[in-house]
Amino acid sequence: MRALLPKDLLRQRTVFVSGGGSGVNLAIAKACAQVGANLVLCGRTETKLKDAVEELTALGAEAVYAIADVRDATAVKAAFEMAEERFGAVDAVVCGAAGNFLAPAERISSNGFRAVVDIDLLGSFHCAHAAYEQLRRTRGTILFVSGGQSQMPFAHQAHVAAAKAGVDQLMRSLALEWGPHGIRSNSIVPGPVSGTEGMRRLAETVTEQVWAGMVPLGRFAVPEEIAQIAVVLLSPLAAYVNGSQVVVDGGMATVGSAA
Ligand code: HXC
Repeated sequence: MRALLPKDLLRQRTVFVSGGGSGVNLAIAKACAQVGANLVLCGRTETKLKDAVEELTALGAEAVYAIADVRDATAVKAAFEMAEERFGAVDAVVCGAAGNFLAPAERISSNGFRAVVDIDLLGSFHCAHAAYEQLRRTRGTILFVSGGQSQMPFAHQAHVAAAKAGVDQLMRSLALEWGPHGIRSNSIVPGPVSGTEGMRRLAETVTEQVWAGMVPLGRFAVPEEIAQIAVVLLSPLAAYVNGSQVVVDGGMATVGSAA
């Protein structure tokens, strides 16, 4: 990564990452740190956030965390206020916080469906909404972490598919409405990524080997392969990319429905 991207690509920029304590979101935060960014991580679990901030600090980044459930608009607003006090207006927001479990549609309770939609979709809206004034000042950017489910159905993922499809349409709406203010909005669509909580959950019913067989490249991504594309999208290298859904899935979406 360091060798491939200019090491000062995000120097003096502040990146806010919801769900940044683990998984692909943490990988994105680390990749941003490696090209000079300051980081603000937001999440629900303080122990994870503390460890993540230590990792970012070890990479030479200035990093802080805020404890907030993205479903709580007031807590999210407070997290952005803290970010601004610490670093000035944020330059980039990664809306990465997500919830997931596997269940056949007929067994998903109203509350279960709502929990996932509230975390993935409403939570993304809360972050973008809270960041708006700061992003206007920096002419910043938002990156939504979507999912392959937004384009093709995965069995036992009806709630997540609905939420992620909403995330992508929210992204396009903001690209249209906020583009004139210099705020770019895009989403990244990771395929299966090794070592993540999401894949651990999906592997409960289908083995990793079967999943990998559904990817033309024949393997899972490592988190860094998602993160390096995220960094490009957050950076001036993507200055003319707005309203795009960027698929980083080894070609999985070309294959057809997965079950
Ligand atoms: C059916 C379930 C369930 C399950 C929870 N619920 N797990 N229903 N099967 N396995 C139901 C509960 O019964 C409850 O409904 C409702 O969901 C809310 O559950 P709570 O535990 O009370 O809510 P909460 O603590 O807010 O948890 C939210 C959550 C949880 C989404 C359900 O899994 C979570 O917090 N996950 C965060 C971490 C996570 O999921 N990371 C993976 C994201 S990766 P009732 O009716 O009983 O009250 C990702 C990418 C995947 O999304 C990429 C794939 C390619």
